Amino acid sequence: MDRAGALRAALAARGGPWLPAVEWPASLVSTNDRLKALARGGAPEWTAVLADVQTGGRGREGRAWASPPGGLYLSVLLRPRFAKAGLLPLAAGVAVAEAATELGVATELKWPNDVLASGRKLAGILAEAASGPAGVEWVVLGLGVNVALEAAAVPPEIAGAVTSLAAEGAEPRPILEVAAAVLARLGVCYDALRSSPGAIVSAWRSRAAPWWGSLVDVRTADGQLQGRLRDVDEEGALVIELEGGENRRLLSGEVQRMRPA
Ligand code: BTN
Repeated sequence: MDRAGALRAALAARGGPWLPAVEWPASLVSTNDRLKALARGGAPEWTAVLADVQTGGRGREGRAWASPPGGLYLSVLLRPRFAKAGLLPLAAGVAVAEAATELGVATELKWPNDVLASGRKLAGILAEAASGPAGVEWVVLGLGVNVALEAAAVPPEIAGAVTSLAAEGAEPRPILEVAAAVLARLGVCYDALRSSPGAIVSAWRSRAAPWWGSLVDVRTADGQLQGRLRDVDEEGALVIELEGGENRRLLSGEVQRMRPA
């Protein structure tokens, strides 16, 4: 059995989700780019694309995602037909955090969907979607998880800001097992999002507990603002209390903790 087949078998043994098609070449420019092409061609939900390395891995806000060997680079196609599809990135963050817990690493979530361990980035999520007259047509969820990166392969400018499952003391596991853990958790979170989206928001909130009440600086497309992190609302927006007490909802942005003066 090839490893795409082994991943499907591992998931079947865990109770799903069933992957109708899996591509797992050694190298791709970006698993998201490949899966978006498949999505446009009508590929079914839960089609998955993985790669051992990416030569043009993409992160949020137009950033690059360094993708050397030792990382999980996984994209999965979903075709949500329910109201709260906009919460999928939060659900994916919860799924990755739960998988990390299963693999022995404690994490926290940072809005909008970074997974941190020991204050450093363990995983990132890039959700790309297309909509039509009937609503969301497809969402490609791209998940990058640092499993066991070699220090020499990590670009020096991000080396201090990233961590990996191995660096956090997890038992060494094949990337296939990490992929199965993440996809199994994602299946459960996706079902929960459909039936009780509030439960996903609550799970997200509790995994982001260390951030509530923190003074933060947020960079948005419209500029920079400071305030205290108060909540993530039922739509997945971040709620910041500005100086003066006014609450502001943010749909996107980059959050940094402010150092005490
Ligand atoms: C972030 O900026 O935090 C999001 C990073 C997402 C990286 C993953 S790796 C698999 C998929 N393919 C990509 O090109 N990007 C995502």
